[in-house]
Amino acid sequence: MIFKTITLHNLFCYDGKHPFDLLPSEADKETCNIVVIMGRNGFGKTSFLNSVKLLFGGVTKELRHGAQRGNSLSEKAFVLGAKEWWGILNHQAKKRGEFDCYVEAVLIDENHQEIIVKRGWNLRDDDYHNRIEVAAPRKPPLTGDNAQQYLSGLLPLDYIPFFFFDAEEIGYLAEANDNQIIEKMEQLLNIRPADNLRDCIKDLIKKVERESIKRDAKLELLKAEHRHDELQIEQQNLNEQCQAIEFDIDVLETDLRETRQKIRVFSGQGMIENNAKLEAAKQAQLKNQEEALTGLSELFERDAFLRLNADKVQQTLPAVERCAHNQHSVTKEMLDSLHEPLKAIFTTPPYLDGRRLEDRLIKFYQNRIAGVLNSRDVNEDDSSPFRLESWQAKKILGLLGAYTPQHAPETPIRELLSRALQAERAIAEIDKNLLEVSLLSEESKLRLSQLQEQQEQQSLDVEQRRKDLHEVKNKLSSVERELIEVQGKTEGLRKQARQSEQGQLRITLLEKMLKLLDSYKQALKVRQRAVLEDYFNRHLASLLDSNQLISKIKIDESFQFQLLRSDDSPIAMGSISAGMKQLAATALIWALKDACGKQLPVVIDTPLGRIDKQHQDNLLNRYYPKAARQVILLPTDSELDERKRELLAPYIYREYHLHNRDGDKTHVELMPSGKAVNNG
Ligand SMILES: Nc1ncnc2c1ncn2[C@@H]1O[C@H](COP(=O)(O)OP(=O)(O)O)[C@@H](O)[C@H]1O
Ligand SMILES: [Mg+2]
Repeated sequence: MIFKTITLHNLFCYDGKHPFDLLPSEADKETCNIVVIMGRNGFGKTSFLNSVKLLFGGVTKELRHGAQRGNSLSEKAFVLGAKEWWGILNHQAKKRGEFDCYVEAVLIDENHQEIIVKRGWNLRDDDYHNRIEVAAPRKPPLTGDNAQQYLSGLLPLDYIPFFFFDAEEIGYLAEANDNQIIEKMEQLLNIRPADNLRDCIKDLIKKVERESIKRDAKLELLKAEHRHDELQIEQQNLNEQCQAIEFDIDVLETDLRETRQKIRVFSGQGMIENNAKLEAAKQAQLKNQEEALTGLSELFERDAFLRLNADKVQQTLPAVERCAHNQHSVTKEMLDSLHEPLKAIFTTPPYLDGRRLEDRLIKFYQNRIAGVLNSRDVNEDDSSPFRLESWQAKKILGLLGAYTPQHAPETPIRELLSRALQAERAIAEIDKNLLEVSLLSEESKLRLSQLQEQQEQQSLDVEQRRKDLHEVKNKLSSVERELIEVQGKTEGLRKQARQSEQGQLRITLLEKMLKLLDSYKQALKVRQRAVLEDYFNRHLASLLDSNQLISKIKIDESFQFQLLRSDDSPIAMGSISAGMKQLAATALIWALKDACGKQLPVVIDTPLGRIDKQHQDNLLNRYYPKAARQVILLPTDSELDERKRELLAPYIYREYHLHNRDGDKTHVELMPSGKAVNNG
C-alpha cells in the first residue's frame, strides 16, 4: 500500500487546502521510493506527520502526550487547544470564521485499487465533532465505527509507531522492554491472533461448564458470572476515574507551581528599590530648592530692590553724578580739608631760620587763617531737590553703577528663582511617581493577595482531588476483592460440571485445544523471534558498521531484547548515547517491517537528527532506499544538505519544500522534477 495523495485542510500550520501528490510516475515507480518534504524548524514537518497519525488513529494517547512536554492533554484540549498548545485547527482559518479541518488520503492497495480515507473535525462554540469516512473498493461508503474498523484492518493502531514516527524519538523502542510495545510487536508479527483464539476457546469452556451443571447451580453460576462482568466493568470505570483524577492532579499541580512562581516574583525587591531611588532623587531636589530660596531671601535682604529696578537706577544716576561733580560742594570740601593740615603747619619743621614760633603766635595765626577759610564758606544751592555731599554722591555713584541695566543686575534673582521653580516642578513629578509606585504597589498588593487566595484554592483543589483519588482507589480495591471472591465461586461451580461425564469429555477436548494453541503460539513466537533477531542483527550491522561497542542483539522468548558486546556480555541501555539508541531502534523498525512482510508506507520526521556523519551515510545509502516501497522523509535543510541529497538523489521521485514565515501559515512548494534540485 502507498499514498497516492495526502491532503491537509486547515490543520495545524496548514491554512486552507494543501494536497501533496505522492504517486511516483511510471518511469520512477521501479527505482524510486522516496518523497522529501523539507522545511526548516517550525515550518510544518511534525504537523504533517501528526496529521497522518491523526488520519489513521484519531487523537491517540501518544499524540496527546507529545503535544505538550511532560503533560498529557485531554482529547478535548488536544483538539481545541490548551495553554501552550494551539489545537488542531489552523489559527488563520479560525480567524476567518472557518471551523472545519480535515486530513484526507487516497491510498493505493496491493490490487492497485484506490481507498479514500478522510477524518475531519468541526470546532465551534468551544466544542468539536469529528467524523470519519472511508470509500473502499467493493464496499458501501463507510462512516463512524465501521470506517474506523476498516481503517484498523488497513493499519492497526498498534502499527502506527513503527511506520509513522519521529526518528529522534524512537530511541525508547530500543530500551523499552515494556509490555505495551511487546504486545504491539507481537501484533505486527501476527502472534497476537493466537491469543485471540485462546480467549475464544476459554469462553467455549465456560459455556460447556455452564451447560453441564445442575439447574440450580447453573442459575447461581449465571448470577455469579453476571456479577463478575459487572464488577469488571466497574473495575474498568474506576481505573479510568483514577487516571482522570491523576491527570487533574497533574494539571492542578502545574498551575499551583506557576502561582507560587508568580507570588515569588510579586513579593520581590524591584518595587522597594525603585521607591528608594525616587526618595533619594526627591531629597536632592529639596536641597536644591532650599539653596535657591536661601539665595533669594539673602538677595531680598540686601539689594533685590536695586537689581529689580535697574531702569530706575539708570534714571537716578545723572542726578547723583551732578551732586558728585557740583562746584560749590567741591570748593567747600577743599576748604574743609584744609582745616586739619593747618593745625600742624606751625608745629612741624622746617621753621623759618630754624626757629619754631611761640605758641602764642601759633594760636594767633591759626585763628586768623581759620577765620579766612571760614569766611570763604560756600553758599549751598538750595534750588536742587536732591542734595548730596559730593563724596557721598561719588560713593553712591560707584555703588549704583553696578545696578544699571547693562550689567543685568536682575540675572541672579531670575536664575535663583528659576532654579527654585525647577526644583519645585521636579519634586512634584517625583511625588507623582512615588504616588504611582505606591499605587502600583497597592495594585500589586491586591494582585498578591489574589494570587495567595488562588494558591490557597489550588492547594485545596489538589487536596480534594487527592481525597477523591483515595476514595476511588478504596472502591477499586473493594471491587477487586469482590472480583476474587466471585471468581472463586464461579470456579467452584464450574468444577461441578466436570462431575458430569459428557461435560468432562468436552472440557478435556477444549483444554487440549488450548494447550495445542499455546504450543502453536510458542512455536510461532520462537520462529518469529528468530526471524526478527536475524533481520535485526543484519540491519544493525549494516547501520552500525563502524561501531565497536555493540556487536549484536538478542531477543528472548518474551520478546525482550538485549544488546551484547562481542564477548556476549550485555550492554546497559543507560550507557548508550541517544544517537546509538536511535540507530538501534531504526534497525528494529526495519527488522519488524521485513519480518512482518507488510507493505505499508513509512513517514519519518527528523530522519537524521543527532546521528554522526558516518551513520547518516549508512541510513541514506542503506536504510531509506529499502525502508518501504514509499518513504516520506521530513528533514530540515541542514539534515539533508547538498552532499547528502546527492546520496539519496537516485531514490527521490518527489520533493516539496515547506515555508512558514509567519509561523501559522505554511506555504508548500513543489520542487521541479529531475533529480538535481538545489537546496534552498
Ligand atoms: N493550530 C495552529 N494554527 C497555526 N499554526 C500552528 C498551529 N499549531 C501549530 N502551529 C505552528 O506550526 C508551526 C510548525 O510546527 P511543526 O510542524 O512542529 O514544525 P517543524 O517543521 O519544526 O516540525 C509552528 O510554528 C507552530 O507554531
Ligand atoms: Mg518537528
